[in-house]
Amino acid sequence: MKKQIVFIEGKKIYLRPVLESDDKKEYLRWLNNYKINRYSNRLSWPTTEGDLARYLNDCGGKKNLLLAIVEKKGERHIGNILLSSINWIARSGELSIMIGKEDAQGKGYGREAWQLLARHAFEVLNLRRLEAGTVHPAMESILKKQGWTHEGTLRQAMFLSGKYLDVKRFGILREDLARLPRKKNARRDARAKAR
Ligand SMILES: CC(C)(COP(=O)(O)OP(=O)(O)OC[C@H]1O[C@@H](n2cnc3c(N)ncnc32)[C@H](O)[C@@H]1OP(=O)(O)O)[C@@H](O)C(=O)NCCC(=O)NCCS
Repeated sequence: MKKQIVFIEGKKIYLRPVLESDDKKEYLRWLNNYKINRYSNRLSWPTTEGDLARYLNDCGGKKNLLLAIVEKKGERHIGNILLSSINWIARSGELSIMIGKEDAQGKGYGREAWQLLARHAFEVLNLRRLEAGTVHPAMESILKKQGWTHEGTLRQAMFLSGKYLDVKRFGILREDLARLPRKKNARRDARAKAR
């Protein structure tokens, strides 16, 4: 079987670098699709092949960390997750995510990818604060369940489908994450029970 490139391994998904061989047309489709972006202001202008090439180029180096989210079952590239605005003095950064394959949404992949990259940011990159902003109900649920604090609301900061929307800003400190219980490891627990 072909060996996969795995950067951060989770249970149902893993994260890896975006590859030259990844389908850029598919990524362009995600970025220009109304249903996928209905909670973002990405659709004011189309994203072109040139925009995407520039974006991917900007995500290289150590300023940002863009990773592909791959569904283990079927080895499908289903979306991307980004750590951006890294400030090595304040040791902070911003997270954002897109599960682009519509049939992969609502299966817990977004939640898992978010937790994997947040842990990597704190435990490997040694950041101490992460931020995110959203108007997406699913995203809000992920943030609250993973111990992020609603730190403020940017009133009417987004204009979407003819309406002004309040954008909620969330933040988490490394110590907040450390206080959360780690998910139980079912296999390890079963082994311990059998002993
Ligand atoms: C938002 C997004 C990351 C969520 O990831 P996902 O894999 O689809 O969601 P999950 O399966 O991990 O579910 C997370 C939670 O959101 C809930 N949820 C999922 N879709 C939802 C929806 N459309 N409306 C409300 N809640 C929703 C789930 O029930 C779950 O809540 P729970 O933990 O209380 O059960 C993903 O759908 C996505 O990337 N959407 C398109 C791009 C986008 O809007 N990105 C976010 C910009 S801030």
